Amino acid sequence: MAETLEDIAAHMVAKDKGILAADESTGTITKRFDAIGIESTADSRRDYREMLFRSDEAMRNYVSGVILYDETIRQSAADGTPLVDLIKATGAIPGIKVDTGAKPLAAQPGEKITEGLDGLRERLAEYHSLGARFAKWRAVIDIGPGRPSHTCISANAHALGRYAALCQEAGIVPIVEPEVMMDGPDADHDIDTTYDVTERALKTVFQELYFARVRLEGMVLKPNMIVPGSNSKVKATPSEVAEKTVRLLKNCVPTAVPGIAFLSGGQSNENATEHLCLINQLGPLPWAVTYSYGRALQSAALETWGGKPENVAAAQRALLHRARMNSLAAGGTWTADAEKQAA
Ligand code: 13P
Repeated sequence: MAETLEDIAAHMVAKDKGILAADESTGTITKRFDAIGIESTADSRRDYREMLFRSDEAMRNYVSGVILYDETIRQSAADGTPLVDLIKATGAIPGIKVDTGAKPLAAQPGEKITEGLDGLRERLAEYHSLGARFAKWRAVIDIGPGRPSHTCISANAHALGRYAALCQEAGIVPIVEPEVMMDGPDADHDIDTTYDVTERALKTVFQELYFARVRLEGMVLKPNMIVPGSNSKVKATPSEVAEKTVRLLKNCVPTAVPGIAFLSGGQSNENATEHLCLINQLGPLPWAVTYSYGRALQSAALETWGGKPENVAAAQRALLHRARMNSLAAGGTWTADAEKQAA
């Protein structure tokens, strides 16, 4: 397998493929399981992830890498095969979420700072030995009255810089994820507010990456798209989202960055796909532009699975369908007709 940072990053954003974000913390996956009445245990979480990683057609054709959570990278399938080996057998690269979560930022009401730098060098060395070749760190930037503060943006950007430098030292490609939230306690902001806040966030992040001596050729950016807040009264058309997202990225992301892999952030499955397609249709773009979706890849599969072994094949078909649609979108060739075809 490719081993330089540049090779790993290129593999992560390879043509027609994207990243499966399956790194929900135990708290987050438990919420998703609770919502559909599945008991969350180490075994049920393993069974669910095993179902995803054994979706052979989806994994081989449309998934370049999988982001795992600490529990999952250590788990084995029911037959004893390490889950990491299942992933590698499909040609996808195992990755790992290394932040320890977004915690309240002192003296900045409603804002968060992502933690996890202490001991990170040692944890990265262990994750590398467990097979991880890329990592993820997510900063959370909320929009509301007086938010985001300068402190929130600069503290989170600084942490991303320190995280990314430590990753590269360990031979691990950092996914740099500053997520400007589309939902949250207020979330009635319009699309231009998202544009302005994301611009401030990305400009600050790339300055901090420079100060931290991060090699841009060996990273992947995971940004939000430029969409209105989920409670905004003014909706945006898909083409407006695509145009504003591309304009912003061209203004903020150096061309040395090999790839951009979007988060879905609470968009519907179809919106996340259509937006990605329209963004790619505005190319040629100076970076590979693809998906690193969690909910927008998994939610149909999770609901179909429902915790029942007899539903595994149908759930895998649901994942295959979303993965294929997003792959078409990454190539700019998705259509509403393709969407309607049964998985
Ligand atoms: P969503 O696509 O569900 O936003 O998750 C992606 C992710 O990894 C968030 O950190």
